[in-house]
Amino acid sequence: MKTEELKKLFDQLSLKEKIGQMVQIPGYFLSEGNITGPALDMGLTQEDIDLAGSVLSVIGADRLKAIQTAYMEKHPHHIPMLFMADIINGYRTVFPIPLAQGCSFDPALAENGAAIAAEEAAAAGIHVTFSPMADLSRDARWGRVMESTGEDPYLNGLMASAMVQGYQGMDHETIPEGKLAACLKHYAGYGAPTAGRDYNTVELSARTLREDYLPAYQRAVEAGCDLVMTSFNTLDRIPSSANRWLLREVLRDEMGFDGVVISDWAAIHELVEHGIAADDREAAKLAVLAGVDIDMASPAYCRNLLSLVKDGEVPESLIDEAAWRILVLKNRLGLFENPYKDASAADETAKILSDAHRAAARKAAADTFVLLKNDNALLPIRQEERIGCIGPYADRRQLSGSWSIFADDSVTETLREAFSGDANVRFAKGCSILDPGAPRVPFGAQKIADEPETDADAALEEALRLAADSDKVILTLGEPNDYSGEAASRANLTLPECQQRLLRETAKVNPNIVVILFCGRPLDIRPVKELAGAILVAWFPGTEGALALTDVLTGKTAPSGKLAMSFPYCVGQTPVFYAQLSTGRPFHGDFRTDRFHSKYLDIPNEPLYPFGYGLTYTSFECSAVTLNKAVMEKSDTIHACVTLANTGSVKGTETVQLYIHDCAASVARPVREMKAFKKVTLSPGESKNVEFVITEEMLRFHDIGMNFVSEPGRFEVFIGSDSTTENKAVFELK
Ligand code: GLC
Repeated sequence: MKTEELKKLFDQLSLKEKIGQMVQIPGYFLSEGNITGPALDMGLTQEDIDLAGSVLSVIGADRLKAIQTAYMEKHPHHIPMLFMADIINGYRTVFPIPLAQGCSFDPALAENGAAIAAEEAAAAGIHVTFSPMADLSRDARWGRVMESTGEDPYLNGLMASAMVQGYQGMDHETIPEGKLAACLKHYAGYGAPTAGRDYNTVELSARTLREDYLPAYQRAVEAGCDLVMTSFNTLDRIPSSANRWLLREVLRDEMGFDGVVISDWAAIHELVEHGIAADDREAAKLAVLAGVDIDMASPAYCRNLLSLVKDGEVPESLIDEAAWRILVLKNRLGLFENPYKDASAADETAKILSDAHRAAARKAAADTFVLLKNDNALLPIRQEERIGCIGPYADRRQLSGSWSIFADDSVTETLREAFSGDANVRFAKGCSILDPGAPRVPFGAQKIADEPETDADAALEEALRLAADSDKVILTLGEPNDYSGEAASRANLTLPECQQRLLRETAKVNPNIVVILFCGRPLDIRPVKELAGAILVAWFPGTEGALALTDVLTGKTAPSGKLAMSFPYCVGQTPVFYAQLSTGRPFHGDFRTDRFHSKYLDIPNEPLYPFGYGLTYTSFECSAVTLNKAVMEKSDTIHACVTLANTGSVKGTETVQLYIHDCAASVARPVREMKAFKKVTLSPGESKNVEFVITEEMLRFHDIGMNFVSEPGRFEVFIGSDSTTENKAVFELK
């Protein structure tokens, strides 16, 4: 619809109808739908429901077409409804969790996954996805790290931008067929809850917020995301849904966002719980003044905005502003011409879980696995070897992350099924996934599929007999998929005792142990590092995860993932991340000389496995860093180069990473920050020059006056295979 026509329609709307556009009702008011937050009794009238501008978590082409038809018939101006849902890492063809996708260091993988998710969800009648989640995540206790792409602002920005493009396409005028509008979340700083406890207070300095937490959101806005979701947390003791500075000055004025701001689930109502609003009426006023356009799943706007405007407490212009942006979004989706957009039962059948989509998910999963250890080339396994595949994930179908709420696990092979037909691979469960009595809080309607082993000793004995009668053991360990995700923080990151016992006892009968770790977050895997010869982190790899694992375990595909988030030595170290500040007393590792230095008495400072780390089936050598000059003018660039050689016996892919350290600045700067990386595939014996161009923009930061600038001085350039590389050169910026 042309803008002038849309304006004509808009001008016909009553104030009540405009307010209705600002209300999002949970799917359960219209049909059964996934409950992804506290189910509030919203006290809505039928008229409220009939005027609501959007609904979340209802899916299905025929169902949504019927809802849309009925809704538009009843609506006084027949305005189409928006259908939104959490399509986080795939719709029915489930891709690896976003944290795993971050480990691919491949934005194209994330973009393709988002495009496939959009194609399937659009066919099912969805218009908007609540993705990408671009929250910087550095604390493994927080369960939602699984939805992030990790601890690095630069990598997160690339991944979030790629996902927006995958969901929306590149046309900034319309959302074409097979695409969805993308909703960036959770703005802002949600990934830094105190003590790693979900929804908890976030305490970030303004500079750290701008340096580390805002950049990825900004990249997603620059990529054109159509919506931004406000986060549950406070920043500077102000909840995001009431934070006018964050929503108007930073998001709209500085970043240039002109789309729709939607609250997270009931976050406007929760301003009362935060203690900044006496009741929903005050909460509604605070939120609409701050700039929240849609109230998700709370009665605050619906029950109060009309009187707030009539009482002169909220200018009607703010309602107009919000409602207009929502209509513009509906127009970008083409809903005034076709209110069903791509909803099509035939397309659902043809596109969902298509062979092409499953093949893409299988390839993506293989590229997200991270090989942390491979002593004596224990991997890949060889055809003639007798393999005992043991553990709670040997025969488990729940391989998708906890936000895969529309997944159908029945189409996911187990490892036993994926290895089917290979007589050399035998299976035993060995132990339950959790210790007896461990808490289980299923996400949504998911039922808990696993009960503790009835006879744990018998299960263990059977597994040990198999282990003793095998050349190698593939030990499948980890956490259940509902132990990460929303409202799934953990204060203890160790594996359950039953799994650790299985590991210890297996090591007594067979030293050749390959551990496959299924997890939604970095865990404390010290016993695994001690007792396993090989460790492959599979995260939650999705629909095709087991098949992808057979590809990598057998060497058909070599692993190439790199950690997007550090594995802590233990939970006491979290949050642990590579881009730390030096402190005035950096610890250099010698307890005798460095007593009064920043360290622990009982554990090392270094993580068990660092950001950017990951092995493959070959070996690489990286030459010393060379620079084409030692002094750089601001208008200039510097070329940094290494020669990478494949010194092993098989083809492999290395992700060469470039880090920069600003040695002395007007504020303390991280000891290094990743500014670029390149994935390089080499055959055995092959070598290649890998060149990076260092620009002045890469050197900018928020200086003592909060100006985003570079400052003259000495810089160190590190180039290597992970964030601990000491392969460096030095240059000076004039
Ligand atoms: C949840 C989550 C958010 C999700 C929304 C809708 O509480 O915080 O990520 O998109 O509600 O399900």
